Amino acid sequence: MIGAGGWGQNHVRTFAALEGAELRYVCDTSAAALRRAGELSPAARLVADVDALFADPELDAIVIATDASSHADLARRAMRSGKDVLVEKPLALDPRDAEELSRLSEQTERVLMVGHLLLYHPAVERLLALVHGGRLGRLLHMHSERQNLGVMRRQENAWYSLAPHDLSLAHLLFGAEPERVIAQGVCLLDVPGEVDDVVHAWLRYADGRIAQIASSWLDPLKTRRLTLVGTRAMAVFDDTLTQGQLTIHDADLTVPADAGSSVRFARGAVEVVPFSPRSPLEIECEAFLRSVRDRSQPLADAKSGVAVVRALDAGQRSLRAGGLPVILEDRS
Ligand SMILES: NC(=O)c1ccc[n+]([C@@H]2O[C@H](COP(=O)([O-])OP(=O)(O)OC[C@H]3O[C@@H](n4cnc5c(N)ncnc54)[C@H](O)[C@@H]3O)[C@@H](O)[C@H]2O)c1
Repeated sequence: MIGAGGWGQNHVRTFAALEGAELRYVCDTSAAALRRAGELSPAARLVADVDALFADPELDAIVIATDASSHADLARRAMRSGKDVLVEKPLALDPRDAEELSRLSEQTERVLMVGHLLLYHPAVERLLALVHGGRLGRLLHMHSERQNLGVMRRQENAWYSLAPHDLSLAHLLFGAEPERVIAQGVCLLDVPGEVDDVVHAWLRYADGRIAQIASSWLDPLKTRRLTLVGTRAMAVFDDTLTQGQLTIHDADLTVPADAGSSVRFARGAVEVVPFSPRSPLEIECEAFLRSVRDRSQPLADAKSGVAVVRALDAGQRSLRAGGLPVILEDRS
């Protein structure tokens, strides 16, 4: 484990208890972070220098949960030293780094998984199965709101901090990268860093479908709501509710051939879909362990990581251009 800060500690706690894994090292440059990690995982060696991990031939895999600016360099060094890697989101800040890491994972035959946690949420696993099974009909539209008060970061804006989860899901649902990204955002608070606190983005796909993503850490209410609109039914996943978090709303969106000047779509039944209460991080860590063991591609693979970094970068360029559309280079 490299990086045992606010989020990395959760990985330390999870891997320390995970059957089939031995957490051999926790590395952090902060003595306080190491002290806390030692309490969570007494058997792990606590080190401040990453080279101890890269040099240990008995170590199979490394989890990286440092600040995003160091992900690319640490993941590169880890794979070059023969280790499989789980790196927190985003895979890198620069799309060229993300693409190079993806190539390196192929060349070295190392697992490269990205911490796209939402893909491992049991509710999202159910939702994906329903979408792929045709329950919603043809998916037309996705929108996601991820808003709260804090945690505000000064090295990355709300888009980089919050949107990777939604972008990874959009990539999986639409099976493609967006053709263009439009993002508007503002830096509202008078604090150093000049980072955007509120960002709203539109992703447009080549076939005309869209995904909308709202990211903010300046909101009085915690909102974690994902809506999918399909031609046969719509789905809502509201992670802040205590029950009925995942619902399917039947509605036939076929426009009648004799439609007049307006069409009223009838609301159908609402189905509450149950899902496992297991922790998404535990499921993610288990998935990484499985890939390390059987050399399989994880769902949140390097391709997913690259797509997210490319969309983040396009959104950032649109933000800087005051919301002008940024066209992604076609890589198909
Ligand atoms: N998947 C999720 O839901 C989720 C949630 C929160 C954060 N994250 C991601 O996790 C990562 C870490 O976020 P955080 O909130 O824990 O940040 P943080 O600043 O609290 O922790 C980062 C830790 O990394 C250590 N560190 C930095 N560079 C290092 C190096 N070269 N060697 C050793 N230690 C080093 C720091 O000392 C610090 O303890 C970020 O990429 C963030 O986007 C993911």
